[in-house]
Amino acid sequence: MIHHLRAAGTSFVLDARGTGVPVIVHWGPDLGALSPAALESLADSQVPAVGPSSIDTPLRQSILPVMADGWSGRPGIAGHHESGSSSAPAFSLSVAEPIPVAELVEAGLRITLDSAALRVRVDIELTPDGVLRQRLTVTNTGDSVYALASLDAALPIPTRARELLDFTGRWPRERQPQRRDIANGTWTRDARHGRPGHDNAFLMVAGTPGFGFRSGEVWGAHLAWSGDQRLWTESASTGHTVLGGGELFEPGEVRLAPNESFESPWLVAAFSDAGLDGLAQSFHRFIRSRRPLSTRKVMLNTWEAVYFDQSAQRLIELADAAASVGVERFVLDDGWMVGRTDDRRALGDWIVDPVKWPDGLHPLVDHVLSLGMDFGLWVEPEMVSLDSAVAREHPEWVLGAFDNGALPLPWRWQQVLDLANPDAFAHVHAQLAALLREYPISYLKWDQNRDLLGGSAHRHTTATYALMDALRAEFPGLEIESCSSGGGRVDLGVIERTDRVWPSDTNDSLERQAIYRWTAGLVPPEFLGAHLGAPTAHTTGRTHELSFRLATALFGHAGIEWDVTTLGPDDRAAVAEWVAAYKLHRGLLHSGDVVRSDAGDATRWVHGVVAADASSALFAVVAMTATRDAVVGPTTLPGLDPSRDYRVTPVRLGAWPRVVQDAPPPWWDAGEVTMSGRMLAAVGIPMPLLAPEQALVLHVTLAE
Ligand code: DGJ
Repeated sequence: MIHHLRAAGTSFVLDARGTGVPVIVHWGPDLGALSPAALESLADSQVPAVGPSSIDTPLRQSILPVMADGWSGRPGIAGHHESGSSSAPAFSLSVAEPIPVAELVEAGLRITLDSAALRVRVDIELTPDGVLRQRLTVTNTGDSVYALASLDAALPIPTRARELLDFTGRWPRERQPQRRDIANGTWTRDARHGRPGHDNAFLMVAGTPGFGFRSGEVWGAHLAWSGDQRLWTESASTGHTVLGGGELFEPGEVRLAPNESFESPWLVAAFSDAGLDGLAQSFHRFIRSRRPLSTRKVMLNTWEAVYFDQSAQRLIELADAAASVGVERFVLDDGWMVGRTDDRRALGDWIVDPVKWPDGLHPLVDHVLSLGMDFGLWVEPEMVSLDSAVAREHPEWVLGAFDNGALPLPWRWQQVLDLANPDAFAHVHAQLAALLREYPISYLKWDQNRDLLGGSAHRHTTATYALMDALRAEFPGLEIESCSSGGGRVDLGVIERTDRVWPSDTNDSLERQAIYRWTAGLVPPEFLGAHLGAPTAHTTGRTHELSFRLATALFGHAGIEWDVTTLGPDDRAAVAEWVAAYKLHRGLLHSGDVVRSDAGDATRWVHGVVAADASSALFAVVAMTATRDAVVGPTTLPGLDPSRDYRVTPVRLGAWPRVVQDAPPPWWDAGEVTMSGRMLAAVGIPMPLLAPEQALVLHVTLAE
């Protein structure tokens, strides 16, 4: 049978006739409703020619490409049975059945393939939002142990997609784009950090040359997994180009006894003919359908305000100042645990420090609650300091000694706790559960501050997920933020079980503009922590005016990470005004479609969120490093309904952005301008001449 999955402008056609491994006929633009006869003729028409000096049958990409079918590229599965048999598997189709329509899944297929000693199940789903996700499960049906080397999902890319985008980065400059032409060979991005890492490929996108935020055909994929992994694109001289991904294993890390199974993470992919914003729209809608969030409370995180300098009096003053500007959640960051005077000790002892907190956290928590805020607490459950009670009592719980007995190199003076050890897991679980029982904690900031560099990343990641799942099940309503030295663990595996990610440790607004711009290509804004930091950023030493910092932190899950007890009356009023604006607009910001303009250049960026029904929008016009000459032309605002009229009104956040001009554009004095969505996208509006590192926020509403 030939299967045709269709949703949100995307078609996926799988030829599962006969007993061979089903062949992917098409993944891309919607082909419309097709009769069985039309599908047959499509599938038949796609059989390629056979070249000279090649296998004698046409080579087609199957749902599990392997050598037995003539595939000499990266295989869908690799491994060996330890009995010594070196025969590679040849699969045939046993069953192709629709996946029972699960919640939110419009159409899915479950393909079961068998070889002499392996069974592989391939699950494929095309969600109503156009997300195509694929997962493989291998079962060892042989009679000796099967050592799995790799298990990758792979999807075909048409030859017109010749350009590739993926990401790299470092602390604290995560998710920076890099582009290249697709040429013959494999471009592979391996992450062996035990977490995706700061340089994670994140999202690999192949597209038609010159694709942008708003134009071009694009095919993108992400691996929903928080451990070792790879994303790759392989283009062969046969004309096949493949976008794939899977978990990375150490040799011998995954050994399946007879009848044991191993399930891969989901490869989460999408196609769009409307550029990267089209992809983002599919990913965001998919994530929102799986993880609907409560109203994103404005929070204050204590880290850059006090670091380890904690006392009830100091923190109560900070809580008072936070409440006075409208903060709704107060999060006590690192430094509250017994003996945690700096970052060299005490991880693993999740007990309140009796020196800093002689009455426990109660005086602070009670005060926070009395101010109408809820309370959050920082933890780093996967880690251990060698200078801690737990490491002294259980040195065997420290993960990953090498063959000479040496521990992994220390990183931030810490090691990893072996959560896959049931006793270590039970210890951490009991300490965290005791805290959650003693205090009304509604939010955990869950940090993870090092690469593993030893031990099984698979077992560790699975155990981490299990601990998060257990706590969420036992404490309903508990929200978790995923932090990993900033943005070292931003992926859809962790987002399945957390409510916020911390995209980066930098609160420098200029750096943040870039980090949001690209992180929002996959993750919806309401999951992206966005903090108002101090005037001079702690990570870069760069100083920004308040209005730029406020405009930058508006477009995510807003928070404050600044000692607001030090604010003068003007700044305090400005911050309160910003908090009020965030509360007013968060419904739109956290449900609409992210729009990023291609029209800007390196000096001027435009981004925004347009309501799903296009009835309103919020944009930011950002002068990155502009001189005024670069920004005199009109600025276009894309993504609105072309046929409707809109009123564009500047939003003052504390102060207007600094300008370098003798006179503003005339419309400015009227305080608003009215234009159709078509005009805003095609013609645009001249903006005030923003000085470098300034942003102007614009509210767009229907004019009729
Ligand atoms: C790294 C995080 O990214 C910071 O926000 C902060 O929580 C520190 N860890 C605390 O040690």
